Amino acid sequence: MDTMESTKILGGVCAALLVFMLGGWAAEEIYHVGGKGHGHGDDHVSGYPIEVAEAVEAESAEPEVTLEEMMAMASPDKGKKVFSKCKACHKVGDGEHGTGPSMYQVVGRDIGSVNAFEYSGAMASVGGVWNAESLNAFLIKPASYIAGTKMSFAGLKKGTDRANVIKYLETLN
Ligand code: HEC
Repeated sequence: MDTMESTKILGGVCAALLVFMLGGWAAEEIYHVGGKGHGHGDDHVSGYPIEVAEAVEAESAEPEVTLEEMMAMASPDKGKKVFSKCKACHKVGDGEHGTGPSMYQVVGRDIGSVNAFEYSGAMASVGGVWNAESLNAFLIKPASYIAGTKMSFAGLKKGTDRANVIKYLETLN
């Protein structure tokens, strides 16, 4: 064996080793990807409900545009139309009370504070002020916000309806 030949052999071995190593690396890489996928799949079994919960949470949080944003987009004219649902019980003139108290200057007014109106004990004693936040929370479902209120109104489910009607109520000041 001359040097030339042993160099060739060595070269061949090196090349083979390189191919082997590259192959091994590639195989490992493929295995890794496969393995990763597997691990992910396994994770999935336990991770899935969390991911779903997160997705649902994100989704249900989605329409929950902040009140500020809703108020910024609200229109008093649209609110006046929404107020047709309230008209049976609420008038807007100063001191005009019906089944419900007048909505005149209701925004900024203490809750349950019109002396001439006979509130339920619940509304009379709850405290606080009517502002966009409290009105929004009340109008979505009155009986939830003030348990025992005698305002028998299911509520305004749509955030835009609430924002619009609040915007309209603000014009009564
Ligand atoms: C079926 C009659 C009825 C309808 C419809 C109704 N309300 Fe009322 N509302 C009442 C009554 C009665 C009260 C007093 C509740 C109490 O004393 O517990 C009241 C109280 C209120 C108050 C508190 C006022 C205050 O002086 O503290 C606000 C604000 C209000 N209503 C807004 C609305 C809006 C806005 C709508 C329409 C989206 C509406 N209501 C629809 C009967 C009604």
